[in-house]
Amino acid sequence: MNFDLNENQKMFRDMVRDFATQEIAPIAHQMDVESAMPDGLIAKMKDNGFFGLSFPEKYGGLGVDTLTYSLVVEELARASAGVCVMITVHNSVGSYPLAMFGNEEVKEKILPRMAAGEIAAFCVSEANAGSDAAAIATTAARDGDEYVLDGSKMWVTNGARAQFFVVLARTPGTTGHDDIHALLVERDAPGLRVAKEEDKMGLRASDTCVLELDGVRVPAENLLGKEGDGFKIAMTGLDSGRIGIGAQSVGVAQAAMDAAVKYAKQRQQFGQAISKFQGLRWTIADMATQIEAARQLVLSAAAMKDNSQRYTAQASMAKLFASEMVNQVVGKALQMHGGYGYTKDYPVERFYRDARVFTIYEGTSEIQRVVISNHILKDTRRS
Ligand code: CAA
Repeated sequence: MNFDLNENQKMFRDMVRDFATQEIAPIAHQMDVESAMPDGLIAKMKDNGFFGLSFPEKYGGLGVDTLTYSLVVEELARASAGVCVMITVHNSVGSYPLAMFGNEEVKEKILPRMAAGEIAAFCVSEANAGSDAAAIATTAARDGDEYVLDGSKMWVTNGARAQFFVVLARTPGTTGHDDIHALLVERDAPGLRVAKEEDKMGLRASDTCVLELDGVRVPAENLLGKEGDGFKIAMTGLDSGRIGIGAQSVGVAQAAMDAAVKYAKQRQQFGQAISKFQGLRWTIADMATQIEAARQLVLSAAAMKDNSQRYTAQASMAKLFASEMVNQVVGKALQMHGGYGYTKDYPVERFYRDARVFTIYEGTSEIQRVVISNHILKDTRRS
């Protein structure tokens, strides 16, 4: 596959790189320490269209292709993985289900608001439904022209700031995949509340919440797709989300390697910069190779999506490889920093904590292997 970037793609990537370098990187440490993201930064990202990156232009978005989107995500993650995840969840699992499966009237009403920066979140997981996403117990009971939602959702990225929630819920008394529905819920709906904000190891600039739904009434027009399409809609959203997590992994790995190289050139031991030692040079070569391999996998999955090919397995491969890769790279980068890497004086400590969840959220590495092997074993050309 050819990933030569055209002028527009390069210009857009460079614009985001400049923004991330000037506006995000200088406050990344402070956001991590304070577990907060300043409203001023969010406002600037709104002005730059980051909340409508992948939305069609007719709904107020920038309409960038997935390849460009992946490069943008990488640039954001290099500066702050916490800021990055807010943008990726909004642009993928938070809004993609509406863009793909919403009815036209609701899309025309809501997508421009999302593109302008009213944040979106995705609510599938529950206390007893993590990797087994179809085990959800939250219910959606039809009552006239409305659905009534009851239950509790976990690991809701953007939960504290979101205006819109894509919620997966099932018909009461059922257990099947085909009894699951996807509904768009607005924050001000009575009965919806954030019950808890998680105190996480990393990604501290981004919020992750428990959401409670107590008799929340949703207009029937907010049903995405048809009744019973919810599970497949969630899986389709995750396919797109996993490309973003792959790109995020590449961005953090690149940042960790850049930091390690800078440190190795400055740090003197045994009378010379430690970058002169062959052991470290080989480590740097391995890091660079791993990062480039992951980047190519991410771009390949992105290009397949842009070409309207089925990309489920490739998205999982990109997410699996890149998220495992970044955890190796941040470990090596921290090791190269010696004791200093274990302190908050150097950003590598934050990269190490941030990266740890990449092999877990939007499907664990084990689940990505299930998806990939299912795809291979179902391929009739191989039987
Ligand atoms: N696209 C479209 N349809 C799909 C699909 C996809 N990617 N994957 C599965 N389906 C369809 C199947 O074809 C099947 O359809 P039929 O019944 O018509 O044959 C149906 O969905 C059921 O599929 P499975 O039998 O494979 O379903 P399963 O129950 O065995 O689960 C799984 C499959 C891959 C394990 C899935 O449950 C999964 O991905 N689990 C991980 C969930 C996950 O990633 N959670 C993270 C949530 S988000 C988060 O982390 C927080 C945040 O804020 C972002």
